[in-house]
Amino acid sequence: MKASLIESAEVIDVKKLTGSIFLLIANSPQIAEIITPGQFCNIKVNDNNSPLLRRPFSICDVDGSNVYFMFDLHGEGTKILSQKKTGDKISILGPLGNGFSLDENIDKFILVGGGLGIAPFPYLIKKMNFKIKHDIYLGARNIDFITDYGLSNLHISSDDGSIGFKGTVIELLEKNISSFKNSKVKFIGCGPIPMLKALKIFCNKYNFDCDISTESAMACGFGICQGCPIEKAKPDGNYLLVCKDGPVFNINEIQL
Ligand SMILES: Cc1cc2nc3c(=O)[nH]c(=O)nc-3n(C[C@H](O)[C@H](O)[C@H](O)COP(=O)(O)OP(=O)(O)OC[C@H]3O[C@@H](n4cnc5c(N)ncnc54)[C@H](O)[C@@H]3O)c2cc1C
Ligand code: FES
Repeated sequence: MKASLIESAEVIDVKKLTGSIFLLIANSPQIAEIITPGQFCNIKVNDNNSPLLRRPFSICDVDGSNVYFMFDLHGEGTKILSQKKTGDKISILGPLGNGFSLDENIDKFILVGGGLGIAPFPYLIKKMNFKIKHDIYLGARNIDFITDYGLSNLHISSDDGSIGFKGTVIELLEKNISSFKNSKVKFIGCGPIPMLKALKIFCNKYNFDCDISTESAMACGFGICQGCPIEKAKPDGNYLLVCKDGPVFNINEIQL
């Protein structure tokens, strides 16, 4: 894996996609050249030290020398990012983490996202480059938390039925199981813990292999501060670090 670097990136645009979901595009040629799907960057949202810590975001897309991040409004950091203007500078540290493995001898990837969990998928499917088939299952509370930015072959569910299938994304997978049960499929999941837990039960029930992208509070982003431990599925007294060993893990490797 190539080394990380810090790049002062110029903001090209910040767009509101839907509800509280934004897309930030920044010119970051060196990071754009080496980052791979599933890796993330730590963004310093301000010139001053408020907030002090960088904020981690998955790489959503890369287009030439531009990097794309999709984010939801949470607190101070994401509010500041949403207010950036064209020409502003942000400091980006990346690429960080391990990223998704695409070297698989399979018929199809099935990508499962809960809400903003789809953020890393546009770049992932771009890198599949039509050589590997994929389906995307996206579930959210309601239509306000759904964006189809950069996505294709999309199956949508919402808890309240305001868009797509009414129910959870795992219930939608169960409904469609006959369409992929007998193929060699691999799952990739990203989203809130309850969704990942349900995905784990589903994949283990049908014996599907599955990798997931995880989240944790973070400080350094590269394995120094020990601030992002995640428990192993088979505890041996040691923890894995989300930023260095992940954020992508096999779903049966870690404790959810
Ligand atoms: C590897 C990784 C990749 C990520 N990729 C994305 C992404 O592509 N898009 C995106 O929108 N977010 C992503 N996140 C989450 C993102 O880092 C947080 O939403 C962000 O740091 C919040 O910053 P803030 O200053 O706005 O909120 P803060 O003031 O830091 O927090 C506000 C509220 O959000 C909660 N919160 C903070 N971080 C998280 C988190 N990681 N998960 C759930 N709740 C959290 C806090 O507990 C608090 O209640 C990622 C996190 C990690 C670790
Ligand atoms: S954030 Fe510092 S070790 Fe992971």
